Amino acid sequence: MKALPGAPHIHWRAADLFIEGVSADALAAAHGTPLYVYSRRSMLEALAGYQRALAGRRHLVCYAMKANSTLAVLQTFARAGCGFDIVALGELERVLAAGGDAAKVVFSGVGKRPDEMRRALEVGVKCFNVESEAELATLSGMAMSMARRAPVSLRVNPDVDARTHPYISTGLKGNKFGIAHDQALAAYRMAARLPGLDVVGIDCHIGSQITEIGPYLDALDRLLDLIEALEGEGIAIPHLDLGGGLGITYTDETPPDAELLVRQLLARIDARGHGHRELLFEPGRSLVGNAGILITEVLVTKRGSEKNFCIVDAAMNDLMRPAMYGATMAIVPCALRDGEPELWDVVGPVCESGDWLGRDRALVVEPGDRLAVLSAGAYAMSMASNYNSRPRAAEVMVDGERAVLIRERENIAELFAREHLVD
Ligand code: LLP
Repeated sequence: MKALPGAPHIHWRAADLFIEGVSADALAAAHGTPLYVYSRRSMLEALAGYQRALAGRRHLVCYAMKANSTLAVLQTFARAGCGFDIVALGELERVLAAGGDAAKVVFSGVGKRPDEMRRALEVGVKCFNVESEAELATLSGMAMSMARRAPVSLRVNPDVDARTHPYISTGLKGNKFGIAHDQALAAYRMAARLPGLDVVGIDCHIGSQITEIGPYLDALDRLLDLIEALEGEGIAIPHLDLGGGLGITYTDETPPDAELLVRQLLARIDARGHGHRELLFEPGRSLVGNAGILITEVLVTKRGSEKNFCIVDAAMNDLMRPAMYGATMAIVPCALRDGEPELWDVVGPVCESGDWLGRDRALVVEPGDRLAVLSAGAYAMSMASNYNSRPRAAEVMVDGERAVLIRERENIAELFAREHLVD
């Protein structure tokens, strides 16, 4: 039987797909489909890779919770000592609701609203990752009005090519993100002058699903050059935040593991004499992506003249990545059947041709069977919508033999509970 790409805790036991000690089919029977299932152990092991490499250094792993912001997932990482990378007020409130520590939160994002800044100042986040001079001015004013000082780091756009999908590449000059490398000195001088701000660090984030170390090393070198220039001018930069972006294996990608990536970055940091700095990382996908699957039931099989369609009960509203990025994610049956595989386009019931989960997949399937989309722990539930008035799926967290329903399935009444008819 072929090994499954991704997390080791999602595996075959004879012909059945298991998440740790629990069968996928049994979970689907108990909770219905579509259903997200996560392996807690996989999440913690993914985090441990970062932690091993960073042991003995001042560091903070800030889980980029946009990847999966469900409370129990946040709680898992908070208990393991993580901080959080947030980009909106709702994410901050989720961290607090999950028992996370505001003092370990970095607030990223290219457009922060004043009310978001105010709340983050009120609860005392570790740092604002600021992306423009205008934001520096607004934040300083807000902090002054609250008789506080805002800790800031500037997100520098190092202009390196992360060699990933254009929609998730963020460190090039043409991207909306960060402050251009050649404008960063001036922005730091401004930050150092503004009365409501404390400069505490520098950061970058060059993209997502990056599968090579080279772009990270290039970005690091550019940041270290800047730090040296800034400290030469008397502007101290206590922490260095290298963002997130490490890729995972969806099918046949071969990204470095987190421990190797971080060790190589540390070697360069040490070689250039910056080993004393506090180090931050903002991994999202690499902590949760391989830990999750999306279970779906086959509704209909339809053999066409050119294509065979396997129509399932999960759709683009549950899993946007294929429709949005053309992403290829592995799809396997929850229980293997004997027979000759045929090629199927696995598609959802949403009324759009872009509503597909996988194309030309060799499967033996019958209506009523269940399939699992693998590596669906990141940017799946967190990007889900109610398109076609479809309730969002439920989520289960497995820990060994134990399975806990961590999010109930949305019900139909909730879909329009906040709407009003006109007289
Ligand atoms: N830090 C910042 C400032 C970010 O913008 C992101 C992701 C991360 C950290 C975490 O990156 P990660 O380690 O997860 O690659 N929806 C897309 C991915 C969007 C990533 C956005 N920013 C997808 O499904 O591929």
